[in-house]
Amino acid sequence: MTVSETAVPPVVNIADALGRFTEQWAQRRIGGVNDYDVKVAKVQGEFVWHTHDDTDELLLVISGRLTVRFRAGDVELAPGEFVVVPRGVEHCTAAEEETSILLLEPTGVVNTGNAGGPMTKAARALESS
Ligand code: NI
Repeated sequence: MTVSETAVPPVVNIADALGRFTEQWAQRRIGGVNDYDVKVAKVQGEFVWHTHDDTDELLLVISGRLTVRFRAGDVELAPGEFVVVPRGVEHCTAAEEETSILLLEPTGVVNTGNAGGPMTKAARALESS
């Protein structure tokens, strides 16, 4: 008997997860798909321009409005919309109002990519608010 036959997998409610922390620009891990993390974050204001040299990054808006800036121009995301930032492409996220997003990217990817700086934060488990 495999593990999958002994227990049903947990259901994750994204709204509940978002209700369990208030810190902005601080990713929380809410699940995993193989070696990818499913993460959520609350963002407001403007992040830093950065690049992820080794991976694409999926950004899905749950609530609010997200601007993703590229050197080629901006995209605007409403709830239910996502963009995949291609690996190696410089980008910067911004939101006028507090916006909740879901991210999908490999475990260990740093939020500020190659840029570093004070906004760099490792993704944390949801339990540690
Ligand atoms: Ni990024």
